[in-house]
Amino acid sequence: MTIAIHESALIRHFNTRKEVLRAWEERIGARFSPFRGYKMPDSRLYVEHPDFLDSIVDLIITNERHIFLRGPVGSGKSTLMLLALRDLPTLADRRGNKFVTGYVGMTGLYEKQMSAAIADSLRVKYRRSWESSQIVESIAQECVRRYREEKSRTALFVEDVADNQEAAFHKLRYLADLPTQEMKADHPEVLDEPIITLIMSGTAVYWNAMLSFLPQIADRTEPLDVPALDDEKAKEFIGRRIAYAKGQIDTFDLDDYGVYPFADDAVVVINTAAKGNPRDIRMLSRGCQQVAAENFRQNGNPEVNRKIAELVSDAYATILREVR
Ligand SMILES: Nc1ncnc2c1ncn2[C@@H]1O[C@H](COP(=O)(O)OP(=O)(O)OP(=O)(O)O)[C@@H](O)[C@H]1O
Ligand SMILES: [Mg+2]
Repeated sequence: MTIAIHESALIRHFNTRKEVLRAWEERIGARFSPFRGYKMPDSRLYVEHPDFLDSIVDLIITNERHIFLRGPVGSGKSTLMLLALRDLPTLADRRGNKFVTGYVGMTGLYEKQMSAAIADSLRVKYRRSWESSQIVESIAQECVRRYREEKSRTALFVEDVADNQEAAFHKLRYLADLPTQEMKADHPEVLDEPIITLIMSGTAVYWNAMLSFLPQIADRTEPLDVPALDDEKAKEFIGRRIAYAKGQIDTFDLDDYGVYPFADDAVVVINTAAKGNPRDIRMLSRGCQQVAAENFRQNGNPEVNRKIAELVSDAYATILREVR
């Protein structure tokens, strides 16, 4: 009985809250919250870092090093990987090689799961019954074949590489080291450069661990820090989300867009508190929406002003510290 009373009170509370948020959204012409979380957001929401993306792609094309995309949780590592994945198939290196790309987004993988995930992502055939070393050998052979016969190099993206089992690394390392001496002896004319480029992601803590525990890979890998969003990009981040929620993303114009009901100085406060981290900008903006929606209910003003942004930033400071 007591439980039922509590439950209904809780439900009533959430429903009221939902209505308050909904009224604010309606007022600004949005069909849903601009600050929803998406597992796989629409690419029209991406704020691009063209120079940084070019530097990733250039490194892949010149084929000198593997890459480690380094950044805190929520800084945009996965998003950058998706953008690089989008661009690579249209490019070629100096020798005219094209790119085959593969993306391993799952983590917590054992040796065999890692091998199978790589094979799947590169569309290499294997049998379920095979040992991981057989699967990896099959991947290696197929990548070499693609290189020799189709003039295609392989770019393999591996997310949060730290979160896999140690044994899985040895498979990655084998692929990172291709071609083997044996293969070089067999085909001296073509195989004088690596044929698989690894693009890994992870936090700075893990990069440091990799330097000490896996120097064989780390020594040949370039760490690249994901850039923080500056205030202008933070504004674009919010602007795109608002336009998206209003169903107007297709006419989004970078030279002429608004962030109403956010005030420009509120965006600066949010971005400062978020340190340019997109995930944190989203969380703070959502917090601001909640406060603004409550204000709107009371006084009819939906604005997110500087004061609201400061209030929410202070309240979130502790949470963000803990999450980091
Ligand atoms: N350049 C960007 N433009 C728009 N949204 C972005 C951008 N970068 C990241 N985001 C958004 O921020 C959130 C976190 O981004 P993402 O998942 O890419 O970060 P991550 O560094 O891979 O995080 P994790 O460490 O949790 O894997 C996502 O909601 C993503 O859509
Ligand atoms: Mg990620």
